[in-house]
Amino acid sequence: MINVVGIGGSLRAGSQSERALHIALSGAAEAGARTHAITGSSLVLPFYDTALTERTPEAEHLVETVRQADGVIIVSPGYHGALSGLIKNALDYLEDLRPDTRPYLDGRGVGLVAVAYGWQAAVTTLGQLRAITHALRGWPTPLGGAVNSADVTFDDDGGASDPKTVDTLRLIGRQVTEFALKQG
Ligand SMILES: Cc1cc2nc3c(=O)[nH]c(=O)nc-3n(C[C@H](O)[C@H](O)[C@H](O)COP(=O)(O)O)c2cc1C
Repeated sequence: MINVVGIGGSLRAGSQSERALHIALSGAAEAGARTHAITGSSLVLPFYDTALTERTPEAEHLVETVRQADGVIIVSPGYHGALSGLIKNALDYLEDLRPDTRPYLDGRGVGLVAVAYGWQAAVTTLGQLRAITHALRGWPTPLGGAVNSADVTFDDDGGASDPKTVDTLRLIGRQVTEFALKQG
């Protein structure tokens, strides 16, 4: 069984980026993966500190879930032209995977989506998520998602005002699962 973990969203009720994450995860599930989302308060972690070895239960859960994952999906809102501090701090915790035999995101397909209230931040944030994924030795999927939440609204039933955006997000999720299946 392929395990795909999704990390993303904001702390805002009705977070558009969290809804986008769930759609991408549904695509991963369609392709045969078991999916798990880490969102909201589960992402509220102390600032990553290399001097500390103690981890909160939420931090342990994040690190252990990514360690076991065969694929990852990351969705961030665009904040001031960049990924949010919440998501960046969560990704900093993947430093704990450095000593693993499969370090960081090594060998894993990584679906990336940025959601911002305008194209500029959506595109710059997607580029940053790709750069971070490369640094973590992951394999960004061929398709990435830049979503302009001024044009598209995600509802709480897993849909969106623009069906093409839903298709794109699902395809990103499918690509993550398909990459994992190709690894055997
Ligand atoms: C602190 C903050 C900074 C933001 N900066 C930008 C920005 O630079 N460009 C942009 O297009 N949208 C910006 N936004 C809007 C969010 O990217 C947009 O509302 C997105 O859909 C938020 O996702 P969420 O619903 O998951 O919170 C900002 C929002 C916040 C709260």
